[in-house]
Amino acid sequence: MLKFILFLLFAGTQTYATLENTTCKRCHPAIFAEYQHSMHAKSSIFKDPVHKAVWDKHPDKLQNNYKCAKCHTPSDHHLLSGKSKLAKNEIQQTEPISCQQCHKIESIEKHTKANKNILTKKEKYFYSANKELKGQKIIFKETHHLFGLFTTASGSPYHDIDYGNENFYNGNMCMGCHSHKQNGNAFSVCDMEIKQGKSKETCISCHMPQVKGSLANQKQSNTHAFHGHSIHNDTPTRLSRYIELSIDKNKNGFVVNIQNKAIHTLFPQPLRLNQLKVSIEREGKIIPLKTQSFIKIIGKDGKPAMPWLANEVLKDTLIKALETRQVTYDTVLRQGDIVILEFGYHLVNPKAAKKLGITDEGATKFIVLTKKRVKI
Ligand code: HEC
Ligand code: HEC
Ligand code: HEC
Ligand code: HEC
Ligand code: HEC
Repeated sequence: MLKFILFLLFAGTQTYATLENTTCKRCHPAIFAEYQHSMHAKSSIFKDPVHKAVWDKHPDKLQNNYKCAKCHTPSDHHLLSGKSKLAKNEIQQTEPISCQQCHKIESIEKHTKANKNILTKKEKYFYSANKELKGQKIIFKETHHLFGLFTTASGSPYHDIDYGNENFYNGNMCMGCHSHKQNGNAFSVCDMEIKQGKSKETCISCHMPQVKGSLANQKQSNTHAFHGHSIHNDTPTRLSRYIELSIDKNKNGFVVNIQNKAIHTLFPQPLRLNQLKVSIEREGKIIPLKTQSFIKIIGKDGKPAMPWLANEVLKDTLIKALETRQVTYDTVLRQGDIVILEFGYHLVNPKAAKKLGITDEGATKFIVLTKKRVKI
């Protein structure tokens, strides 16, 4: 009996202290390692200095009423259910959006303020996508032979897999958190303005392409779906191919075409500053031309304002889903010129960074997303 009680005590403390992702790590090491670099592993105020800077100025901070948890740290279950207040714990620091948080999304409830994720209540039951197995359910079972001397397992040796959830095929599973967000004034602070058009790409095909490395230890595969989502890294190389840059020469100068193949507005987050930098290499010299900014400014009473106060759009020159934007330059090109195009962004608009007291150089420097040299 004593042994049994000790076991219960031990098991109890263990489940409390064990992080959800620790189990997944054992069998999915490649995906686990990649995930550490994603913003889904760093979306709390303890890991994302930009999110922290905005939270620090937010009026709800005075009551420590961290409503951002719904999307930024949903895996901190005690915080979400109101049992505890925001505190620097292991979940906040290592798995604010855990593996299960995504893999248990059953459906998305649409709301005007912000959508909501509905998770399955089944234990160890995960959704995934696989075109060949679409619709199937892999139920983990162990078969015992010869009175238990031999065991064979099928499926994953830890959990069931359901390949039948359409949201994991069309990218809708991302939309509980990413679609849009309104503030208390019923004003949309951030909206991806998705337009599918004729594009066959989805959130998953562009952001989670197959990359080298096995998906599980027990099931060797050459590739797995990329789990390192971030534009905070210096080289977002996986995404550059979806922005096509070209130029058309005319007698008064030239036009730069920026073709956006993404099915959402580029850089919809209101803190970002998206820019096109153009220069000409002529006879060994670099001639810089005007820098074009694409920006959305939200505000109140005609002046820029923080997201929780804003009730109007003051300016919106962001490049929309599937749009080709043209920028005109009145410098006449000569034979032998090389036009250098750099399309990229500042994570935080340097002006906003000043107001928020963000001094981190990584947040304000210009990051190139796509660049091109065109010889005339
Ligand atoms: C004991 C090993 C083990 C553990 C622990 C484990 N998995 Fe798995 N998992 C597997 C194996 C093996 C497969 C491949 C099964 C198959 O294809 O038949 C798999 C498949 C999957 C798939 C579907 C892959 C596909 O084909 O689309 C997902 C999603 C998944 N695991 C998520 C998780 C998550 C999340 C955790 C942690 C909560 C976890 N797994 C823990 C072994 C494990
Ligand atoms: C409906 C879900 C949702 C809620 C609620 C939410 N956010 Fe976010 N937030 C997101 C998503 C999704 C992103 C990533 C958007 C992107 O990169 O385009 C994000 C990004 C951000 C960023 C940019 C971070 C960076 O590193 O550039 C800031 C700042 C931010 N949120 C602040 C907040 C604050 C403060 C709150 C609470 C008062 C909050 N958010 C509530 C979904 C949400
Ligand atoms: C549980 C909510 C949630 C779900 C589900 C979710 N995300 Fe996110 N995602 C976030 C939040 C919050 C951030 C911003 C973290 C930050 O910057 O602090 C983010 C960040 C990102 C970023 C990086 C943006 C940046 O600023 O670096 C990308 C890309 C992204 N998500 C894509 C996706 C895709 C694709 C899916 C679906 C496969 C998805 N997300 C599902 C909440 C979510
Ligand atoms: C055709 C490819 C493509 C598709 C489809 C696509 N994206 Fe993107 N996504 C991009 C590119 C390119 C960028 C980099 C530009 C940017 O940051 O806006 C990006 C950036 C992002 C960012 C970071 C935005 C920021 O400024 O912080 C998030 C978040 C994101 N995508 C989520 C999604 C979600 C959710 C979907 C599905 C509705 C989706 N993407 C579909 C190509 C795509
Ligand atoms: C932002 C949401 C999100 C998070 C967080 C997330 N996944 Fe996934 N995962 C997905 C989606 C969506 C797919 C389906 C990809 C596809 O169809 O190619 C997927 C696919 C997988 C697969 C199958 C890979 C393949 O190539 O088919 C495994 C295994 C997996 N995830 C495990 C994990 C583990 C382990 C973690 C945590 C370390 C994790 N996931 C975190 C959304 C997520």
